[in-house]
Amino acid sequence: MEIHSANGYLPDQFLQDGTNHRTDEYGGPIENRARFLLEITQAAIDVWGKERVGVRLSPSGIYGSMSDSSPQETFGCVAEKLSDLGIAYLHVVEPRIKGTELISVSEPVAAKNLRQHFRGTLIAAGGFTGESAEAILQAGDADAVAFGRAFISNPDLPERLRDNLPLTPYDRTTFYGGGAHGYTDYPRAQTSD
Ligand SMILES: Cc1cc2nc3c(=O)[nH]c(=O)nc-3n(C[C@H](O)[C@H](O)[C@H](O)COP(=O)(O)O)c2cc1C
Repeated sequence: MEIHSANGYLPDQFLQDGTNHRTDEYGGPIENRARFLLEITQAAIDVWGKERVGVRLSPSGIYGSMSDSSPQETFGCVAEKLSDLGIAYLHVVEPRIKGTELISVSEPVAAKNLRQHFRGTLIAAGGFTGESAEAILQAGDADAVAFGRAFISNPDLPERLRDNLPLTPYDRTTFYGGGAHGYTDYPRAQTSD
């Protein structure tokens, strides 16, 4: 079970001080802002066990007008507390990157930063190619990489990356259409067997 605390969803709104303006024990210092996520995580662990619960964070995401005044400190602290809970993994959406250029994030927090605070399995996601995925694994900044868009248009993505087969480009205009077309009807790679 993955607890979605990224991309401006409710637990993320509690974590970041740009959206959390509460004055009770769920607002103010990061120890308070993290309380909601930690309580949810603990409740899930109580039911399913820590080895079946992961958490997703997007420390540098700006979707939904999210912001924090000190993201390194905020997410470093959250990662440390999640580490103490012994969850199965931490899943980090990487800062948005266009080529090698970072898009409009002043103090980006990436998997490699949270690695210093989280002692378990770390998954990175967001804009990866086969090459950049291999690079982050080799650098030791993540233990695994998650793919979104490329997986839609390449249902056999792991095999294609492993065998160096060309990837089918995705068609963004079909992503939110609600039907199978452009979601589940991309073919597997043609191979000789
Ligand atoms: C069609 C589509 C719908 C998505 N919907 C959501 C969503 O509702 N909430 C969310 O947090 N992320 C959503 N994402 C983002 C993915 O969870 C994931 O972070 C992203 O696709 C991974 O990066 P990549 O596509 O660059 O590999 C969506 C992605 C796609 C392609």
